Amino acid sequence: MERSNIKIRLMKAKDFDAIVKIDERVLKVSRPEYYKAKFEKLIHSKDYVPTSLVAETEDGKVVGFVMGELYIGEYGISDDKATLDTIGVDPSYQNQGIGRRLLEEFIDHLKRLGIKRINTLVDWNDGDLMKFFGANHFSPSRVMNLSRNI
Ligand SMILES: CC(C)(COP(=O)(O)OP(=O)(O)OC[C@H]1O[C@@H](n2cnc3c(N)ncnc32)[C@H](O)[C@@H]1OP(=O)(O)O)[C@@H](O)C(=O)NCCC(=O)NCCS
Repeated sequence: MERSNIKIRLMKAKDFDAIVKIDERVLKVSRPEYYKAKFEKLIHSKDYVPTSLVAETEDGKVVGFVMGELYIGEYGISDDKATLDTIGVDPSYQNQGIGRRLLEEFIDHLKRLGIKRINTLVDWNDGDLMKFFGANHFSPSRVMNLSRNI
């Protein structure tokens, strides 16, 4: 079922609490420090182009978000790639097309800025998120993330 009464808009500083809460409901852990660092960049970095969005109900409740990064250098947007860091929809509002709308508006916005590719990292074992990105035309890239336990 598609929700038509949901508005997508740019993320603002006042959305911090709502986003931490959605993330907590989705992941079952609270990560305010992670989001504090991300909001710091979002609000204060002069080289940071706003790309992060929220989904809001008619009565102003934030029920989903997508956060991405794109930097503007001395000579403009030098890189034609952006990253999608986090996407989350409140469990009570999932499977209503909100994640898809957030992603589509995120992509449209980046396309208008000249971006040609979006990268995101997903845990191979996170079947739900892998399926969501697959359903939205993301596929494995040729760059492999290497790691080593130390
Ligand atoms: C992934 C997520 C963003 C999807 O949001 P949503 O609003 O429920 O998704 P939509 O209703 O827009 O679905 C879009 C498409 O993805 C598919 N999809 C969504 N969730 C899916 C799932 N769990 N399994 C399989 N497919 C899924 C839908 O079938 C739909 O495809 P279709 O239109 O071809 O049927 C949401 O489930 C979520 O927040 N999950 C947790 C994400 C997470 O762990 N984030 C990291 C920290 S925030």
